[in-house]
Amino acid sequence: MSNFTATAIAHPNIALIKYWGNRDDRLRLPSNGSISMNLEGLFARTQVTFDPGLTRDTLLLNGKQETGKALERMSGFLDLLRGLARTDIYAQVSSENNFPTGAGIASSAAAYAALSLAAAQALDLGLSEAELSRLARRGSGSACRSIPGGFVEWFAGAEDASSFAVSIAPPEHWRLVDCIAIVEPKPKATGSTEGHRLAATSPLQSARVADAPRRLEACRRAILGRDFDALAAVTELDSNLMHAVMMTSSPPLFYWQPSSLLLMKEIADWRQHGLPACYSLDAGPNVHVLCLEEAAGQVKRRLEEFPEVGEVLVCKPGGPARLE
Ligand code: DP6
Repeated sequence: MSNFTATAIAHPNIALIKYWGNRDDRLRLPSNGSISMNLEGLFARTQVTFDPGLTRDTLLLNGKQETGKALERMSGFLDLLRGLARTDIYAQVSSENNFPTGAGIASSAAAYAALSLAAAQALDLGLSEAELSRLARRGSGSACRSIPGGFVEWFAGAEDASSFAVSIAPPEHWRLVDCIAIVEPKPKATGSTEGHRLAATSPLQSARVADAPRRLEACRRAILGRDFDALAAVTELDSNLMHAVMMTSSPPLFYWQPSSLLLMKEIADWRQHGLPACYSLDAGPNVHVLCLEEAAGQVKRRLEEFPEVGEVLVCKPGGPARLE
């Protein structure tokens, strides 16, 4: 049998309404729905080759051969695809990011979205976008949102079949920009997968989840109506709620650095003085500053003035995962 190979590219995404905690950790069925924007310019490029000559899966990540947990996680995920294709052939996977890995810029989202698309193509599975999104979810929850393009909503769903993401508006719908202030390029101490398992230990998680439909509605409306003030209010609230849950878990998780809080307060102050910008932080200390395109130059310059900020990545809304 010959080799089956394909290469795909996917963007990471920034969640405006966050995914934190699962109803089912194994299936990655989230406790609440979420909404995100894909990040143009940043991507993972992943090549997958199913090769009958291999005796196990291999993973080359940013030029480094992975052996431990990262390889195990990917292998378990490829088992799902092998199940669908009714094959037991192992794969050689090579993936590269053009942005810092594990620093709160969802690298696993881009990686698993690209891997899902490339592997499904290599195995000729003929999956629809919704089926690919559902599959990517099993690799990393947020990866399901990097399959469709632009502004994306992940329906929590009641079971595996109904938990996937769809585009709610294309990238060109709204000229929003995410200026990512990198305050710490090193990988974080506690990964998201471990963090999700702790969410239910916080007494605040149930309140956060109960109020999620209201925030989802407010965010969806703000995006569809291009209402920046409404988006800013719900985005900052949602980020703060998730971090409140993280900080009150057992054990507590503190992803912010002092510099993160410093920037958050500055950004809220800029907005009060008329600059259309707001913040959102994922499971890491870097600060995503969402702003209108006309403010992006000024936001970037202001962020670069802080000695704590090493680099500012500027991303417009990105398209869907695609084959190369
Ligand atoms: C804080 O999707 O990285 O970025 O499913 O375990 O891979 P796993 O978790 P992951 O969690 C993302 C958490 C977040 C919020 C979000 O992107 O919605």
